[in-house]
Amino acid sequence: MKSDKIIAVRVNKTIYREGDRCVKVFRESFSKSQIFSEALNHVKIEEAGVTVPKIIEVTKTDGRWSIISEYIKGSTLERLMELDPENKTEHLRTLARLQTEIHKKVCPALPSLKEKISRKISMAELYDPRLKNRLYEILDGIPDKNNICHGDFIPSNILVAENEKIYITDWPHAARGDGAADAAETFLRFALTGNKDAAREYLELFCDISGRSEKDVRMWLPLVAAARLANNSAKEREFLLRQVDVVDL
Ligand SMILES: Nc1ncnc2c1ncn2[C@@H]1O[C@H](COP(=O)(O)OP(=O)(O)OP(=O)(O)O)[C@@H](O)[C@H]1O
Ligand SMILES: [Mg+2]
Repeated sequence: MKSDKIIAVRVNKTIYREGDRCVKVFRESFSKSQIFSEALNHVKIEEAGVTVPKIIEVTKTDGRWSIISEYIKGSTLERLMELDPENKTEHLRTLARLQTEIHKKVCPALPSLKEKISRKISMAELYDPRLKNRLYEILDGIPDKNNICHGDFIPSNILVAENEKIYITDWPHAARGDGAADAAETFLRFALTGNKDAAREYLELFCDISGRSEKDVRMWLPLVAAARLANNSAKEREFLLRQVDVVDL
């Protein structure tokens, strides 16, 4: 792996370019099922007609699994936002528009978002045990939907090719459910990075474009925040607990 071809380095993953292929190499800590689940979700989305970098193969080298996809020459929306902060609103509008388009599509083969959220809430550590039951009640009471939800719809997962065609990548968290929950997750991701203005502006744009109400999205906030607690990030914990604490017992 040549360092000049490295695109991104995460704690437990490295993404690099190899000619016209993009190689996402996972650390040994990832189970085989996690790798195949990410690749399978991605392929299901590809087959549902969403523009994604096509998966080429899943392979193992020196004990590490890799998912290989077509390399998209261009930039991420995150990078474009950094380079061009004056057009932040336009970039956020693009994000909200793309997300709304994806939510219009269906893919019955994906896992249920409600079930995923419920499972993650069961794994979350909460101070008040009554809170979990209340969260399950709220979750049960929200009507289910069948929208494709990305689960991590943030600017670094939007690839803008040189010909301006847009590809969406990074689908391990994809599920079928209510697009408003997916929007709540995006709002939370902006807020978690201290980007409160962007979070608010994104939410306004999402509601404007999708026709969903802010109430619809905010209703999911304590639920997606509680689910995210299952990741056990010490850095995020206090913030997430504050989002969950708004729930009346
Ligand atoms: N097919 C591709 N072509 C070009 N660049 C890519 C491609 N896939 C990923 N990238 C680049 O690599 C970065 C990281 O890839 P990806 O989002 O799949 O992994 P990740 O962010 O580590 O996953 P996670 O969000 O689950 O931590 C992207 O933000 C993008 O810059
Ligand atoms: Mg990513």
